[in-house]
Amino acid sequence: MKKRVLVASNRGPVSYEFGADGTLTGRRGGGGLVAGVAEGLAAMTPEAEVSWICAALSDADRAAAHTRAPEEPGAVPVRMLDIPPEIFDRAYNNVANCVLWFVQHLLFDTPNQPRFGREFHRDWAAYRVYNEAFADAMADEAVGTSAGVRVLIQDYHLSLAPRLLRDRLGGQAAEVGIAHFSHTPWAPPDYYRMLPAEVGEAVLDGMLGADHVGFHARRWAAAFLDCCEVILGARVNRSGGDPGPVGRVVHRGKVTEVAVHPLGVDAPALRARARAGDVRAHVTALRRAAGDRKLIVRVDRTELSKNVVRGLTAYRELLATRPEWHGRVVHLAFAYPSREAVPEYRAYTEQVRQIAAEITAEFRTPLWNPLILEVKDDYPRSLAACAVADVLLVNPIRDGMNLVAQEGPVLSERGCALVLSREAGAAATLDGDALLVNPYDVSETAVALHRGLAMPDAERRRRTEALAATAAASPPALWLGAQLASLDP
Ligand code: G6P
Repeated sequence: MKKRVLVASNRGPVSYEFGADGTLTGRRGGGGLVAGVAEGLAAMTPEAEVSWICAALSDADRAAAHTRAPEEPGAVPVRMLDIPPEIFDRAYNNVANCVLWFVQHLLFDTPNQPRFGREFHRDWAAYRVYNEAFADAMADEAVGTSAGVRVLIQDYHLSLAPRLLRDRLGGQAAEVGIAHFSHTPWAPPDYYRMLPAEVGEAVLDGMLGADHVGFHARRWAAAFLDCCEVILGARVNRSGGDPGPVGRVVHRGKVTEVAVHPLGVDAPALRARARAGDVRAHVTALRRAAGDRKLIVRVDRTELSKNVVRGLTAYRELLATRPEWHGRVVHLAFAYPSREAVPEYRAYTEQVRQIAAEITAEFRTPLWNPLILEVKDDYPRSLAACAVADVLLVNPIRDGMNLVAQEGPVLSERGCALVLSREAGAAATLDGDALLVNPYDVSETAVALHRGLAMPDAERRRRTEALAATAAASPPALWLGAQLASLDP
């Protein structure tokens, strides 16, 4: 009998748009979570009956949720939840993105933020309602199926859902395996306990409703175990293993396994995508624009944690301190729009544009444009940029994993030096061949950019091959398969 697998995440694998005539068209949803889960599922679909529960994110999605909009043949069936807009806005923007994301990435400007007052408690109540909507849908899908159901709940939007689902399943819970996976880092207890006590406890208790809790890197799993011990007073056993289980938490009489599952890339599929005509056309155009100059590339969402402003400042310092690169390097910075409903993100995008304009004004000559900033989402162009990069800059303040750091070496055509923040989860596996930097240290980052540009070709190619092999060693199918295997009785 086929296994039944349920996936739950805020953003689903498809998002809809209204055409001019009012018809709905679907297109693939964005982000590393969606890509990783979708590719992992594609590899196992023949042996499993899969469905994916997600939130409707727009009016077109809401319409699609009610009209059974057409799906691509062979696509995973998607159940979109039409959560009332006000509840969704409070849960997604105010709690998930403006509080939980900020906590896990250590993003607060603490003299001013956060301030947990009455308004926040209303937001928190909405977050609970949002999680309940997911738990209801999951229970509805799971109840009554005879084969053991495996439920894979994704990320900080759904931290309460594992416990809420377990409660709803009652006696059937023993036959259902529940896993939760965090694509973010996890904060140390001293920072985490900035959350109001009942909120910090509810998040941990909610996740511990799962049988298995996963993270991309050992550091994040260890911090989670620390929080369970310090904040909840739960019994914690730590063990070896990475990848694999790194500990167990006993809480309210239930044991939850905590494990590390690094997510890399499906290298053959990525390389095949990069051979398509649209990517090739961008490769040609970018090479023509660069001429014989070297290219420093970055590809990110315009996201506070991605540290785009310090990255640009480091490039400015490189040009200011090493005039030998004038006219010989171009920085291609792709920072595609993200979470534009959040004022901090809009202000950050403006800051990115501003500093880019300053760098251009300071160094541009009639024959040389030192910086190309593109604030738009263009996937084929991003792949092309990775293919032609001589240096790839990935300098997040903190990051659960980071896929670009892994995709870049896989896509690289002539070898690229990877300047990588030591605070990215990916640094745990790529540290041997990347140039690691402290993301706050602009001068160190500028020196690393210089080292990357000056690196001999043979060394750059050797390091790129090693980085690509590491990234390819944890493809999505393996990542997802390991989580499902951990739920087997
Ligand atoms: C990160 C999170 C994902 C999220 C993605 C894009 O990768 O871990 O859960 O989907 O960012 O963010 P968005 O808010 O646009 O879905």
